[in-house]
Amino acid sequence: MRYFVPLGTTLEVWQLTLTNQRAQAVDLSIFSLVEFCLWDAMDDATNFQRNYSIGEVEVADGIIYHKSEYRERRNHFAYLACSQPPAGFDTDRETFLGAYRGLDSPLAVERGSLSNSIAHGWQPIGAMHIRMHLEAGEQQTIIFLLGYHENPEEAKFDPPETQLVNKRTVLPIIQKYLQVESVQAAFNRLQEYWCSLLGRFQVNTPDIHTNRMVNIWNVYQLMATFNFSRSASYFESGIGRGMGFRDSNQDLLGFMHLLPERTRERILDLAATQLPSGGAYHQYQPLTRRGNNEVGSGFNDDPLWLVLSVCAYIAETGDWSILDQPVAYDNLPGSEESLYGHLQRSLQYTLDRLGPHGLPLIGRADWNDCLNLNCFSGSPGQSFQTTTNKDGKVAESVFIAGLFIRSALDMAKLVEKREGEPAAEYYLQAAKQLEKAVWEAGWDGAWFRRAYDDFGDPVGSTECLEGQIYIEPQGMCVMAGLGVMDGRARVALDSVADRLATPHGILLHQPGYTRYYLNLGEISSYPPGYKENGSVFCHTNPWIMIAEAMLGNGARAHDYYLRINPSNREEMSEVHRCEPYVYAQMIAGREAPTYGEAKNSWLTGTAAWNYVAITQWILGIRPGLDGLHIDPCIPPEWDGFSAERTYQGSRLHITVHNPEHVSWGVVRLEKDGIPVEGNVIRVDAESKEHQVEAWMGK
Ligand code: GLC
Ligand code: GLC
Repeated sequence: MRYFVPLGTTLEVWQLTLTNQRAQAVDLSIFSLVEFCLWDAMDDATNFQRNYSIGEVEVADGIIYHKSEYRERRNHFAYLACSQPPAGFDTDRETFLGAYRGLDSPLAVERGSLSNSIAHGWQPIGAMHIRMHLEAGEQQTIIFLLGYHENPEEAKFDPPETQLVNKRTVLPIIQKYLQVESVQAAFNRLQEYWCSLLGRFQVNTPDIHTNRMVNIWNVYQLMATFNFSRSASYFESGIGRGMGFRDSNQDLLGFMHLLPERTRERILDLAATQLPSGGAYHQYQPLTRRGNNEVGSGFNDDPLWLVLSVCAYIAETGDWSILDQPVAYDNLPGSEESLYGHLQRSLQYTLDRLGPHGLPLIGRADWNDCLNLNCFSGSPGQSFQTTTNKDGKVAESVFIAGLFIRSALDMAKLVEKREGEPAAEYYLQAAKQLEKAVWEAGWDGAWFRRAYDDFGDPVGSTECLEGQIYIEPQGMCVMAGLGVMDGRARVALDSVADRLATPHGILLHQPGYTRYYLNLGEISSYPPGYKENGSVFCHTNPWIMIAEAMLGNGARAHDYYLRINPSNREEMSEVHRCEPYVYAQMIAGREAPTYGEAKNSWLTGTAAWNYVAITQWILGIRPGLDGLHIDPCIPPEWDGFSAERTYQGSRLHITVHNPEHVSWGVVRLEKDGIPVEGNVIRVDAESKEHQVEAWMGK
């Protein structure tokens, strides 16, 4: 359990309960081991000439303190403590392991005793040996604490004239959490916290994998992506790349019903890194909240995601006041404008950057970071993210056109409410203008094209040798409503089903690029079937699920949902090879030798979008500016389902009946037994509990 306590302390607690079920007493040895790092993950792994000489520890009263660099500019240290007095300890790695040995066979464990070694340099560890005697039937609980603690600058040492760590500030915390009762109370608080978060939306459907992910694991992953974005992570390298503007706005789409206040704060933080042009830094650093210059800007889709997250936030919370909140540009004091003004600039940014076909210029890249149409990188190791050789006046993105239309239609609703219909007309017209450009230059006959490259040639077209069809514009353009009325959306989605859908999910594009294309960039740097070169890039799959749901095809939407659902993939774990409860960024595609193998779990936009697809579009419980829509699009064999949801302070108990086994269409809706016109449930601040009942039918 990880537990955060105020006072600049972080604790990780392991609680171990052992029961002796034998008829006679036993003596046990328990060894615990932590590896200390020197506070800077990157420096730790590279700067050996310095780091191997600075490691320092103290051991006092059975507690190990790791205090490298504490003697100079740091005021923090780590510690390992145990509720039982240790029989021995080690802090010197080699003493513990033995020469030429690894963590798989430490000499000290083999021997059964530690040496009380004190590390001087190298890579300090914290190892403890606990001896335990258990009578027949006896049970004992033992607690280990791994902690981080900060001391006030002026009280670092105790006694002050020494170099010894001042432990007075941390000892009360250690003593408290070495008590079983305190640990249990902390566990209980944590459990209550999660129960209340998870309780905000619970469903009961005929499908166990849907229930498992929606009720628990997908939500847990949403919290991880909210907290870490793609930044510092507790898996893989531990070194990330800041909070992405695009990524964090999308992460919010699934998260906002859990913690609306933190969502509001995050939206304002993100908006404050927007540039006066309406563009955005691609990332910002979570601690300084400043834009990250090294990664730069000019990813032309970035600002539009802010429009989506703000509209979704208002639909979830009804908090229109956020639009009036003054927010700076590039964090510059004095540059504040209302968030509403930020959104206007976001959309204007696209309109000010249209290319030869009237489609949005792509800039450095759009959602697909690796489709680098202005980069032309020929130097090994050069960053595709920061190199731009072209001024970028030719390459255009059909995907951004779809995203723009979708955002402009949402924005029009905000504007209409604030300024009236005539003002909203500006965005409706802009959406029409871009839609026209898509039909003229972005439609390939049976699907939407992806882009135009710097030579003005189409990407994602039958005219191309490789990369003929891409998933992103099919999802986003249909989500923007394109072709929904005239059948072309259906044609595009059938092309997806024919050419991109596989049993392991829907591929990013086909065929994958078999060689490196200077004019396409990083996408073709990956071997076919991996990452952006034609893997199942899971983030995009829910866009197709949503699009299918918008067209009423519940069977297909839910089938696609199950193909990448980690719980559903558990049965083929030997192929999937990834946690069966958490979404991964990608699943290797059809052209990859490891077809079906998932990679890079946890920190991916897949979490938010799948949650949106299943809860809002397939189960169809969808917040809108006018209330909560009840509009399920489910597999026809389902008899129905039920859900509990907290919405704008009210608690809704929702039951959906599907007696005629249709896939889509609510024919009757009741709130507290009273028929409701249409399929929107409105709540008011006063009444807190409601029964909602919906009947689907022909
Ligand atoms: C990674 C990035 C995300 C990008 C995606 C596709 O997931 O974090 O911003 O959209 O790759 O390139
Ligand atoms: C690499 C990855 C891509 C990610 C990008 C972020 O290009 O392939 O998924 O979005 O790095 O910088």
